[in-house]
Amino acid sequence: MNKKITIKLSQTSSRNYNILIGSNLQNELLKFLRVQKNIRNIVIITDSTVEKLYGEKMVTNLESSLPKAKTILNLFSFPAGEKHKTQSTVSRLQDHMFAQKCGRDTLVIALGGGVVGDVAGYVSATYMRGIPFVQAPTTLLAMVDSSVGGKTGVDTKYGKNMVGAFWQPLAVFADVEMLKTLPKEHIRSGLPEAVKMFVTHDKKMFEYVISNREKILQLDLDVIQKIISRAVELKAGVVIRDETEKNERKVLNFGHTVGHALEKLSNYKLLHGYAVGLGMIVEARISNLLGKLSDTEYELIEKTIVDLGVKTGDIKKFEPKKIISEMSHDKKMQNGEVQMVLLNGIEKVCKKHGKWAHFVESKVIFEALE
Ligand SMILES: NC(=O)c1ccc[n+]([C@@H]2O[C@H](COP(=O)([O-])OP(=O)(O)OC[C@H]3O[C@@H](n4cnc5c(N)ncnc54)[C@H](O)[C@@H]3O)[C@@H](O)[C@H]2O)c1
Repeated sequence: MNKKITIKLSQTSSRNYNILIGSNLQNELLKFLRVQKNIRNIVIITDSTVEKLYGEKMVTNLESSLPKAKTILNLFSFPAGEKHKTQSTVSRLQDHMFAQKCGRDTLVIALGGGVVGDVAGYVSATYMRGIPFVQAPTTLLAMVDSSVGGKTGVDTKYGKNMVGAFWQPLAVFADVEMLKTLPKEHIRSGLPEAVKMFVTHDKKMFEYVISNREKILQLDLDVIQKIISRAVELKAGVVIRDETEKNERKVLNFGHTVGHALEKLSNYKLLHGYAVGLGMIVEARISNLLGKLSDTEYELIEKTIVDLGVKTGDIKKFEPKKIISEMSHDKKMQNGEVQMVLLNGIEKVCKKHGKWAHFVESKVIFEALE
């Protein structure tokens, strides 16, 4: 059965939007498009891999079902991979749209993983000062995390996601059937972001992941849909309370201060989800070294992440000094200090003086990395 979760926003707008998670959602997308007013152009943005798997099919499906006289349909794709999550990709896509005379009556569909979602979202946020867009995530990572919450943007030579905007989608359609073609390494790379939501917010679901490990790795879609739905529900709650990351939303960066540094140092060869998985292990270890997280809970977090396919040995490829230096470029820095989300326990994020992210001394980070 499909699951619907609604995000109610009040900060940047008073809009609500729905996230639909389920199977074979093409008709739901069509129904949604049919009732959109003042939309003349539909632009599907995707990457080279997803274009062949689902992009062409989506074009055929929409062409045969939407009124031709009313809608002009275009599909633009860019080469797959984090390396192409850049300002030049955004400019190229926007130039294609200008060349096709797409006006403000254009709606963008982001069809792909987190890279496509971030790029297409940023294209939409900045095209003619902002046009609507819809997320149609096709990777596990995008379904559990990146398609929800409105963070869009690109990487620069100075670091990950350094340029971007908060730009909420009009709707999200997460069709779990599409995960059947996703390579195993990308299934495994999507899991740490779900584990992050459960470690920080829901102990029972964290235990559910542990006891359903085999089914998850074999892509049992019922189990996977339950994990996506709960992760999204939890993320939606945080986004509703703090849409633009003034404070509580920082919790969602657990594992990312170290993770982003690793991703950048590997020249984006290390997949985002693996980097976050390693980052969560290190940041949990920091919490443990600071006397906040017990040895047993730290070990359980590490074992769970490793059992889902993250190899701790990968961290040895990077010098601790370089990781710490790379972290100083992170946009989560405040007053020149590295900020990190720490745990007091599973489901217990450390909140001190009303703050959810905290300064950690380099020597503690160094010890945890060692
Ligand atoms: N905006 C946010 O809130 C947020 C949150 C977390 C992560 N992110 C971003 O997400 C990105 C990572 O996303 P990702 O892991 O989805 O990577 P990705 O978008 O690069 O997708 C991974 C690979 O899978 C391919 N692919 C996608 N769907 C497929 C399918 N159904 N079948 C077969 N192949 C498929 C893609 O072409 C790509 O090669 C990072 O850039 C990260 O910064 C953003």
